[in-house]
Amino acid sequence: MKIVDAKNLTKYYGDLKALDNIDFEILKGECFGFLGPNGAGKTTAMSIIYCFMPPTSGNVRVFDMDVTENQSQIKSKIGVMPQDDNLDPDLTVFENLIVYARYFDILKKDSSRLAWELLDFVELKGKADVKIGSLSGGMKRRLILARSLINNPELLILDEPTTGLDPHSRRAVWEKLDYLKARDTTLILSTHYMEEAERLCDRVAIMDSGKIVTIDAPSRLMDLHGGNLEDVYIKLTGRKLKEVVV
Ligand SMILES: Nc1ncnc2c1ncn2[C@@H]1O[C@H](COP(=O)(O)OP(=O)(O)O)[C@@H](O)[C@H]1O
Ligand SMILES: [Mg+2]
Repeated sequence: MKIVDAKNLTKYYGDLKALDNIDFEILKGECFGFLGPNGAGKTTAMSIIYCFMPPTSGNVRVFDMDVTENQSQIKSKIGVMPQDDNLDPDLTVFENLIVYARYFDILKKDSSRLAWELLDFVELKGKADVKIGSLSGGMKRRLILARSLINNPELLILDEPTTGLDPHSRRAVWEKLDYLKARDTTLILSTHYMEEAERLCDRVAIMDSGKIVTIDAPSRLMDLHGGNLEDVYIKLTGRKLKEVVV
């Protein structure tokens, strides 16, 4: 079953073409990755899927609904972990979850229970009453992951979930994502870490300058083109993924 179906998707910011007539389908229960360097269009593609902004042209259906017509219904079934930390620094860890729950009209008695469950899941129960400023980078990412799960989403969108994290914190996030995958949550993630794509993604879209060069399973791409995913990326785009990442 298709969770996302994008056809001829194009997005302009003024004169800049951020997405250039791309097509992709994302199936229920899979982990789908957008792979590419900064500026490739990963965040733009994901933002359109979660109805943050409309496409310039093309047809994007999510849960078989049009992203330009059924925003609130689509949003209610999606969790989003944005690229940048946008936690409220004036609130505690626990309060950040409670306030976010209001966007989904979750009742107060339910949101408190949910918040504790999610803090338990991301191993932050002991930090419930501290302000955001005293959390480490890894803790913040885990809290944002917890927050993205408050509406029990069928589809989870993760924009560079582990960028900037040390290897230990990165693995901690991966383990949580493994658990969600096992529960049949559909995951869409963007990354420029090859190891992350290989470890988590069932299929990846290799992106370069707003275009999708190919979509396939990481293992199949490596079989077809030889080497690791980094080598595949260089072969298909003529670029080194790591060099262009700042
Ligand atoms: N709000 C915006 N206004 C203007 N240009 C933007 C905006 N967001 C992204 N861009 C540009 O669109 C292109 C794709 O950006 P983005 O989707 O953020 O790529 P990625 O997430 O792969 O780094 C880049 O050239 C970026 O500078
Ligand atoms: Mg981005």
